[in-house]
Amino acid sequence: MLSPTSQVLVRNKEIFEQGKWIFVNPPEADIFSALSNSEIFGFHQFYDVFQQCPKNDKHVFSAHYPVTQANTPNSDLFDGAVIYMPKSKEQAAFLIANMAACVKSGGNIYLVGENKSGIKSADKLFTNISQRVNKIDSARHCSLFCALIEQSFTFDVEKFVQYKEIQVKDTLCKIAFLPGIFNAGALDPATQLLIENLPEKLTGRVLDFACGSGVIGCFAAKNHPDIILTLSDVSAIAIFCSQRSLAANNLKGTVVASNGLSEVNHKFDAVLTNPPFHTGIKTDYSVTDKFIKEVKFALLPKGTLMLVANRFLPYPDIIKGSLPMLSTLAQTSKFNLYRAQK
Ligand SMILES: C[S@@+](CC[C@H](N)C(=O)[O-])C[C@H]1O[C@@H](n2cnc3c(N)ncnc32)[C@H](O)[C@@H]1O
Repeated sequence: MLSPTSQVLVRNKEIFEQGKWIFVNPPEADIFSALSNSEIFGFHQFYDVFQQCPKNDKHVFSAHYPVTQANTPNSDLFDGAVIYMPKSKEQAAFLIANMAACVKSGGNIYLVGENKSGIKSADKLFTNISQRVNKIDSARHCSLFCALIEQSFTFDVEKFVQYKEIQVKDTLCKIAFLPGIFNAGALDPATQLLIENLPEKLTGRVLDFACGSGVIGCFAAKNHPDIILTLSDVSAIAIFCSQRSLAANNLKGTVVASNGLSEVNHKFDAVLTNPPFHTGIKTDYSVTDKFIKEVKFALLPKGTLMLVANRFLPYPDIIKGSLPMLSTLAQTSKFNLYRAQK
């Protein structure tokens, strides 16, 4: 079943029947088969949906769509773009700026999102790009806006990358952030608890699972330069930031795009994580539930898992069902740091 946002696009499918289109971050691959135009391309910042799409040059997994309109032939530009409203307005502004450089002058950028997602301020999000923004449809608790692009724009991702120095105890790391990354520009208190309690001895292969900006992996490698570090995340923004964070600290590591542990092939001496959970109307920790159940297969014998999480989340029981030894290493009023061993 299509998401409500995709259903709104299907209601308006005649708009997308002609020309060359790019759809940005659809929550499911089925939207491409639900529309009849075969000239609809996909730009994906999430690896799970990208994986569901046909493996061809119509679908790109990347932090930003690779275009600078200054040297792009008109035939490579799109007649229109459709952006699914992301979680943060900063990420929406980033995607709008990126798409403005991908769309021909005279083309349109559509923005579709749930009404509770902040889409109602679409006018403001388009301020630097278009003054001609109209609401096209409203249904399924979602809205569809259209902005007319009347000139050509260039896009340079470097203008959006920010570096911040983060200090924990005696160690300083320079961390890269892009709009849309978890806790942009700051250190999350749960992440801080994990970093403050990194083991004195850390050797062999280490995985920073759900790495975000790569902050946990960078601190681990800076304090233990001999580890063989892997970082993984489902988000292309996280992959981009982690690569930049490693480079900014002269550290080596392999950064892997992966939905859960799907693309993580090695076995590890230690897995470190501040894993995802979604707080909406309902708390959703299904990704982490699955990760905990599978992590034993990614650990070497005696390998350890260090996981930090909100105290109310039921992870101790799930961990106990997966790994034999469990302790609470550290805690604050909000977070617990668990250590489990295979
Ligand atoms: C709580 S943040 C932690 C980020 C970083 N480790 C930190 O501590 O700042 C969780 C991360 O999980 C990632 N994530 C969400 N769903 C995922 C999935 N299915 N597989 C892998 N990573 C996922 C998000 O992109 C996000 O970067």
